[in-house]
Formats: sequence, C-alpha cells, structure tokens
Amino acid sequence: KVPYVVSGKSKVAVAINAASKTGEWIKSKLGDYKQLNTKVSSQDLVTEVDKGAEQMIRKLILTYCPDDEFLGEESVGAGAAASAQAINAVKDSEYVWIVDPIDGTTNFVHGFPYYCVSIALAHKGEVIIGVIYDPSHDELFVAEKGKGAYVHGNLMKVSQEATLGESLVATGFPADRGESLRLNMSGLNAIVPKVRSIRNGGSAALHLAYVAAGRLSAYWEIGLNAWDLAAGSLLVTESGGRIGDISGEDYHLAVRNVLATNGHIHQELMTELHEAGLQDIPAQK
Ligand code: IPD
Ligand code: CA
Ligand code: CA
Ligand code: CA
Repeated sequence: KVPYVVSGKSKVAVAINAASKTGEWIKSKLGDYKQLNTKVSSQDLVTEVDKGAEQMIRKLILTYCPDDEFLGEESVGAGAAASAQAINAVKDSEYVWIVDPIDGTTNFVHGFPYYCVSIALAHKGEVIIGVIYDPSHDELFVAEKGKGAYVHGNLMKVSQEATLGESLVATGFPADRGESLRLNMSGLNAIVPKVRSIRNGGSAALHLAYVAAGRLSAYWEIGLNAWDLAAGSLLVTESGGRIGDISGEDYHLAVRNVLATNGHIHQELMTELHEAGLQDIPAQK
C-alpha cells in the first residue's frame, strides 16, 4: 500500500511520490535491517535500509527530473568537513534535490516509531519544495514556496505561545560528543527551568514539521546538515514561523546550528541560548 500517489509530473508530485513510496518501504523494514554500521561516533548510525532508501529516492526523482542535481546524506562521507564541501558544491545549482532518506535512524534501529523521509528541492540556493513523510503515523507534510504548508491537505499554522513559560520546546543531542554536546547541555540547563517542557523526539526534520504544525513552539539543535533541515525549513516559514542559525543569521543551506520557532518566542529563546554560551558555536568535527 502506498498512501499518497499523486498524478502529474510536477516536481512537487515527484517529491510526494518518492517520499511516500520510500517511506512505506522503510516502514516494512522496521526491526528487519541486516547491517548496522557507525559513522563519526557510536551514536551516529547507518543501515543498509538508509542506503537502499536513498538509492530508491534518487531513481524515483531523477527518472522524472534528469537534469537536476541530487545530494543525499548517504552519498556524502562522514564528518562535518565532507558535509560542508558537499553543500558548497551544490548551493548555487539551478535545481538540486537535498535528501535525508531516513531522518531518525537511531529510532528506526530501535523500533521507536518516529522517523521520516525528508526531500527538499532548492533553486539557486533557495528551498522551493519541502516534503516530509512520517510512515509510522502516515503523515505527509508538504510545502511549496509562496503556497503555504500542509499536513494531510490541511493548512498548517505555527502555535501562538508568546512566552517561554507556556512553550513546548524540542532539542537534539549531537552525535559529536565533545564540545558540541557540552554546549548543548549548557543550553538545556538554562532552558529546562524556563519552559513548559522539553522533548527530544530524535528526528530533526520531524521536529521542524511539528513546529510548522503548531505542535512544538520551538526547536534548536547544534551540528546538523542541509539534508536534516532543508525540507523542514520551508514548512516552518510557510506556516508563519521563523528559522535561522542560533547566532541570529537567517536560514540558508549551510546552517548547522538551527533555531526554529513560532516567531513569537524567537528572540527570547535566542537570548537565553546566547547567555548559556551558544552565541558563537565552534565548527564541529
Ligand atoms: C539525526 C536526527 C537526530 C539528530 C541528529 C541527526 P539521522 O539524523 O535528525 O534527531 O539529533 O543530529 O543527525 O542521522 O538520523 O539522519
Ligand atoms: Ca545519519
Ligand atoms: Ca538526518
Ligand atoms: Ca539520515
């Protein structure tokens, strides 16, 4: 069963079909992977399902869009330097697809039903399509630049919380267990007492989709890559939220340290994170 088959060959239809077909295949493999390998640390996992899913998406997309470029997480070497180089090589491309075949591999490996396929299309460095599919909950999130963001065909709107005290905020723990983790724990120490509660679902892309859907007031994390953020960034802005670097810079494809909010609490959360030492985050390994 493939939940969303959209007719037509528009780029957004291609993205939706690739995300939903691949997502169903990934779901059929939950708990049934054969090879588990690590990348930069024992917290950074990859299975043959991640790689197979990426090949499947590449084929589904390039069959319809043969002239576009394609950047997928599992085709890039491990570590921050390789990622930065890969992003740099495509950031000015006419059209480039930026794909995370499974965002939330740790959850997938443990059978924790919170992971997704994330597919973005950027035109000359600007994200114009963002599609995220969560097969566990059969939720499809779709945004097109200037046309709004939808879940299950319903228009999404960010939440209304105006203070940290009434906010539900997510973060993630960096796989680089050195300075990045220390900084994030410092941020966590500062934020936990000030908010309603904190979550770490374990999928950057779904955290962004949940900010867009008004289910989370905000999300921050250190040391991410373009494939974690590109699709979700458009969901957030098209549903009225704000996304950028924790330092305050607006979102672009090379952002690694993300802060995404409903807009209302952006400044307050950013100030708290800066006071906790997350103003200038050193480059990760
Ligand atoms: C990871 C997830 C996780 C986040 C990590 C990411 P992956 O992506 O988004 O939530 O904390 O930083 O690397 O490796 O499962 O695609
Ligand atoms: Ca990964
Ligand atoms: Ca990811
Ligand atoms: Ca991944």
